[in-house]
Amino acid sequence: MEAGAIDWSTEGIVGRREKYYAASQRAFMPYRTPLIFSRGKGQYLWDERGQQYLDLLGMNVCVSVGHAHPEVTRAAEEQIRALQHCTTMFYHPVPAHFAEELAARMPKGHDWVVHFTSGGAEAIDLALIMAQTFTGNIDMLALRNAYHGATFGAQSLTGISGFRHNVPLLGGIHHIANPDPYRGIFGDDTGAYLAEIDRTIRYATSGKLAGFIVEPIQGYGGIIELPAGYLKSAAQKVRDRGGICIVDEVQSGFGRTGDNFWGFEAHDIIPEIVVMAKGIGNGFPLGAVVAKRDVAESLAKKFFFNTYGANPVSCAAGRAVLRVIDQEGLQANSLKVGKRMKAVLERLHQKHEIVGDVRGHGLMLAIELVTDRMSKTPATEETAEIFERTREHGLVVSKSGTDRNILRMVPPMCIQESDVDRMEDALERSFAGY
Ligand SMILES: Cc1ncc(COP(=O)(O)O)c(C=O)c1O
Repeated sequence: MEAGAIDWSTEGIVGRREKYYAASQRAFMPYRTPLIFSRGKGQYLWDERGQQYLDLLGMNVCVSVGHAHPEVTRAAEEQIRALQHCTTMFYHPVPAHFAEELAARMPKGHDWVVHFTSGGAEAIDLALIMAQTFTGNIDMLALRNAYHGATFGAQSLTGISGFRHNVPLLGGIHHIANPDPYRGIFGDDTGAYLAEIDRTIRYATSGKLAGFIVEPIQGYGGIIELPAGYLKSAAQKVRDRGGICIVDEVQSGFGRTGDNFWGFEAHDIIPEIVVMAKGIGNGFPLGAVVAKRDVAESLAKKFFFNTYGANPVSCAAGRAVLRVIDQEGLQANSLKVGKRMKAVLERLHQKHEIVGDVRGHGLMLAIELVTDRMSKTPATEETAEIFERTREHGLVVSKSGTDRNILRMVPPMCIQESDVDRMEDALERSFAGY
């Protein structure tokens, strides 16, 4: 082959991946046979044979405004031609504009500042360091079933065993009961989950906290929404012990939940730190910690550097994402189409005994599959089968949750009402016989 040529044959792609990818990168393989994508447009993807799919996953919630969006492509292309990288020791207007625009999306009346990273976990690590440095405390609360990333800090905050490696993760992190009305240990008793926070602080911590980190809607954990009133009271308990509130908006941000631009806005709280990534760049590597100025100032005297943080190409794409969300009304679209999608999932729930629960908001939706609705035994094998069928019927969804029995749907926010009919038809065929 000529240097730089691309071999699109299935054997070539699979063979090289098997031979040259490390096991740690090779292992993430949801389907029984490889799915190879060659291009995308809006809410659609095409495999290397030209078969089209409705993308209900958005490359794990990264593709927020649509594959190959012309405005994002134009902005990135223009910046690539001018200057591909500019480290933060030099000045460049694009990331500075973007920081201003992100700060303007935050609750008014506070002084917000931005630190760009190249992805979510890096941003989570920085948020953790900020919380500990600002408060002078170490102990952190995190939720069981949360996913915050794969770096040491982010992995230590993650409350799912499958993502936690058998290595000495950070100390001082306490995973509290997840207020999950469907599977949580206290059912839908929000007060009991809050009381558990008091007990954890009392028995497992020094009594002083650095903070509490939370996803407003757990993503990889299977679209678990925080119950009304929980976050406000939990944040108060943490602040009473000297801690701050870090909200992980990596999946739930940028209008995806429909009602609000940020997931935390549904809970009547203003966090000290908001972490964002994924949808921020529509697929370009980018993350950000947006913090109240006094919290971020705690790191003023110590060097903290992310080589690709504030990369101007990613930031140009990020600026375009914000414009497109506004110009195309994608938050309102998420609400409208999300409602129709949820209605489809509810119809599936009525018709198919295997569907145990339907949850979510806007374009963060999921159904949980169980072998028996009373015992709620996870239908792991059946989910695997139905998941394979969704692919055959032209959908891309995600198989999530610790028992791999949850089908998660988080499509690009440009998905249309007309796509929902196709989704319903494909899901109906996939669930036939269950
Ligand atoms: C809620 C949440 N936080 C943090 C992360 C980590 O982001 P990244 O994979 O960009 O490091 C993820 C990634 O999946 C996520 O879903």
